[in-house]
Amino acid sequence: MTILITGGAGYIGSHTCVELLNAGYEIVVLDNLSNSKIDSLDRIREITKKNLKFYQTDLLNKGQLKTIFSENDIEAVIHFAGLKAVGESVLIPLHYYHNNITGTLILCEVMEEFGVNKMVFSSSATVYGIQEQVPLSENLPLQATNPYGRTKLMIEEILHDVYISNKNWCIAMLRYFNPVGAHSSGRIGEDPNGIPNNLVPYITQVAVGKLSELNVFGNDYTTHDGTGVRDYIHVLDLAAGHLKALEKVMTTSGVSAYNLGTGRGYSVMDMIHAFEKVTDRKIPYRIIDRRPGDIGISYADPTKAQRELNWIAQKGLEEMCSDSWRWQSNYPNGYEIDNKEQKEQK
Ligand code: NAD
Ligand code: WQD
Repeated sequence: MTILITGGAGYIGSHTCVELLNAGYEIVVLDNLSNSKIDSLDRIREITKKNLKFYQTDLLNKGQLKTIFSENDIEAVIHFAGLKAVGESVLIPLHYYHNNITGTLILCEVMEEFGVNKMVFSSSATVYGIQEQVPLSENLPLQATNPYGRTKLMIEEILHDVYISNKNWCIAMLRYFNPVGAHSSGRIGEDPNGIPNNLVPYITQVAVGKLSELNVFGNDYTTHDGTGVRDYIHVLDLAAGHLKALEKVMTTSGVSAYNLGTGRGYSVMDMIHAFEKVTDRKIPYRIIDRRPGDIGISYADPTKAQRELNWIAQKGLEEMCSDSWRWQSNYPNGYEIDNKEQKEQK
């Protein structure tokens, strides 16, 4: 069974490729490498001792997408490809709408043309926006507070409409909470460009000495220590959730959203302390103002995924921190690839 993975060279995609290959799937990866390195694919092959086919292609290139579908017997698509930086999406919204939404439209058009109707889509907890209550369950009214979030919200709506127009479709929209961690080999992990926007890569870069101190965005939230609380989830638990969602879409039809989170929240200070323990290093920090647009608390109600996908997160905070740290300390500069050496592979 061949599965097309869009954005498979990226952070969550690469870990999911490992799990899929280990489970015996044949995979074809499509990625334009705009936010990833070809090295991740070599390391997936090395970890799994299995091969994958790679097309360095932009999702917006409909002709090349059709070629991929005609050259391979694709049965389902896991759709990770997208731009994800919230701040950047405010600065260049048209680029985000074009890349994320038009890319998804083109993908759906080509899938329909080739009679492939099974999709697992990377949505995000960002579609909950600002809510009064936690935990966040799938049936809450949705809202988004920035262009990136709106791309996810709009794509969810588009996918609903696609299903309504053709009931052969089966689509699982996975709303990830805060993905962290890395593969236990320490060979693949998150490799943000420039200064990280997200908490965990920022902390690990402070721990490894690349950054001097962490800015903690506010300590006046109504949380147990005043700092923001999030539902951090190990990327390998997320990857396992994709396998379960894939099994589901292969055997049914419909469109459904699922939270992928642990159901447990940790504050920024909890995360600093957990990393201090794992790294045996002090993490210097200072409290500054709240980051505009941030919310105080977000954590999942993961019971729908448990009930309908038979999935539950297995890995705890210590493993999230030690795996993130192994990757960061092995590779302080990430994949460190010379771009000139990036080659198109098939
Ligand atoms: P990532 O940037 O590491 O991976 C995305 C991949 O998609 C990259 O390899 C990038 O090169 C590729 N890509 C982007 N636009 C493309 C295009 N037009 N054509 C071909 N390839 C393209 O990000 P990630 O953290 O692995 O996230 C994967 C998905 O999950 C994204 O859709 C993201 O929005 C979503 N998500 C991520 C998080 C998170 O915090 N990491 C949380 C919720 C949802
Ligand atoms: C976590 C906590 C910050 C950085 C973002 C996106 C969301 C999703 C996941 C894609 C918050 C605090 C952070 C720092 C800090 N991505 N923090 N200092 O904001 O929950 O979610 O990534 O879909 O859409 O918005 O994650 O890691 O940025 O922040 O104090 O340098 O850490 O205030 O409480 P967030 P994050």
